[in-house]
Amino acid sequence: MHERILIVDFGSQYTQLIARRVREHGIFSEVVPSQLAHEHLGEGLAGIVLSGGPASAYESGAPFLDPALLSAGVPVLGICYGMQWMCEQLGGKVVPGETREFGFTEMTVAASKGLFQGVSDETVVWMSHGDRVAQLPDGFERLAHTAHCPEAAIGDDARRFYALQFHPEVAHSREGATMLRNFLLGVCQCAGDWTPGNLAEEMVEAVAVQLGDDGEMILGLSGGVDSSVVGAICQKAIGRRCHAIFVDNGLLRAGERDLVENEFCKHFELDLTVVDAADRFLGKLAGVIDPEQKRKIIGHEFIEVFRDAVKQHPRAKFLGQGTLYPDVIESVAAHGGATEVIKSHHNVGGLPDDLELELVEPLRLFFKDEGREIGRCLGLPDILVDRQPFPGPGLGVRCVGECTPERIALLRAADHIVTSELEARGETDGVWQYFAVLTGARSVGVMGDKRTYEEACAIRMVQSLDGMTADWVYPSREALAAISSRIINEVRGINRVVLDITSKPPGTIEWE
Ligand code: XMP
Repeated sequence: MHERILIVDFGSQYTQLIARRVREHGIFSEVVPSQLAHEHLGEGLAGIVLSGGPASAYESGAPFLDPALLSAGVPVLGICYGMQWMCEQLGGKVVPGETREFGFTEMTVAASKGLFQGVSDETVVWMSHGDRVAQLPDGFERLAHTAHCPEAAIGDDARRFYALQFHPEVAHSREGATMLRNFLLGVCQCAGDWTPGNLAEEMVEAVAVQLGDDGEMILGLSGGVDSSVVGAICQKAIGRRCHAIFVDNGLLRAGERDLVENEFCKHFELDLTVVDAADRFLGKLAGVIDPEQKRKIIGHEFIEVFRDAVKQHPRAKFLGQGTLYPDVIESVAAHGGATEVIKSHHNVGGLPDDLELELVEPLRLFFKDEGREIGRCLGLPDILVDRQPFPGPGLGVRCVGECTPERIALLRAADHIVTSELEARGETDGVWQYFAVLTGARSVGVMGDKRTYEEACAIRMVQSLDGMTADWVYPSREALAAISSRIINEVRGINRVVLDITSKPPGTIEWE
């Protein structure tokens, strides 16, 4: 059992960020909803972080958390709402603040020691709160203040309880990483020697144990990072007892099928079946233009194709999935109700229960970038590990309007030009996604001396941490010029290229 930090989720938009920050310091962290947190005390627990959240600690109906957490004998760090919950529990008082504090805020630190060891006397933190602590619980002292918040940071050294009104996990808190480090390595005395990479062998071993001496499994390989890493782990664990299935749905990027067939089989002796189902998918998509209907058709068809392929391996009783930690974290719904469905996501792993296969999910405790590191350790080539995310419904959600074979071919060709020009210029390092979209608009142009009336293609390039929010990225003028000229010249059927400068929100990354 590795040492671990328990992150109690009160519904903050930053909870996952706290988990990532903790892991960046070499300590395993797990996120649990507040009402279930008490079930996660015990072995390996080195400390607890209480997240922020939208509730008010003095109101009825605030999320439940068992006060037993405060007698677990480990250090506790409360952040924002987490601070206020702690104070109310321990006999302090929380009141609505006279002024809301939001954004960059100057903070004065009382002493450069403990949590604030190595932090400047005057620093900048990120605030986002309406309520504030008006009366400290017994045993606590002030550690820092701002103009509007006398208790910006408080602590009780004897019990090793600390609380911050601001968000140290957000990069805008200039020295937040130092404070978290002080809490984790100093107060909690964690060793900080956990890395996803050094777990790779353990994961291989765990899959070997789960499958036993003769267990066989099916794995849906998509060409994306997650299923590739799972493929690498499972192949190392059970060799050719892992049967990988790659479905060519006709909505793949240029060279995708070859990449999977060649790269994967070159580096790993995987038992791979490629199912050529392009006609089947495109046939079902004929005449359909509604985005949700397209998504549903592609998802449904995938299940049917996969079901047929599984029948070829009657001995397989396990199913490998590239499930990642963000899919597993059961987040506290901020407003109680179900969140609105913006798009019905389809993933290669999203298969129905009636397949009656036991799941093998070696990445379920990991974030995407950690999965990449594990993949690298297992010898997956960069070309697979560093691939940008690609949605399950593929080019289908980038082709606004009907997905005819001709339009998909146009989009595939344009997309290849966009990605290869940006990559060749080294403009894609650290960029989340970059691709082409067939917008569905047509416009008049002139080529040679002839009038044209053809499709308009958009260049979409975004920066993001996790796909939940995103900022658009400006490619260089040279790259834009090369892309535009090549698409117009080489892709017959597109006569206009535009740049998408919409962030998420209000846009989404994909167009459908
Ligand atoms: P949106 O368009 O919702 O996309 O802003 C956010 C991120 O999710 C990817 N995406 C998908 N991934 N199945 C997936 O596995 C899907 O159905 C799907 N739809 C969108 C998208 O590429 C972006 O990274």
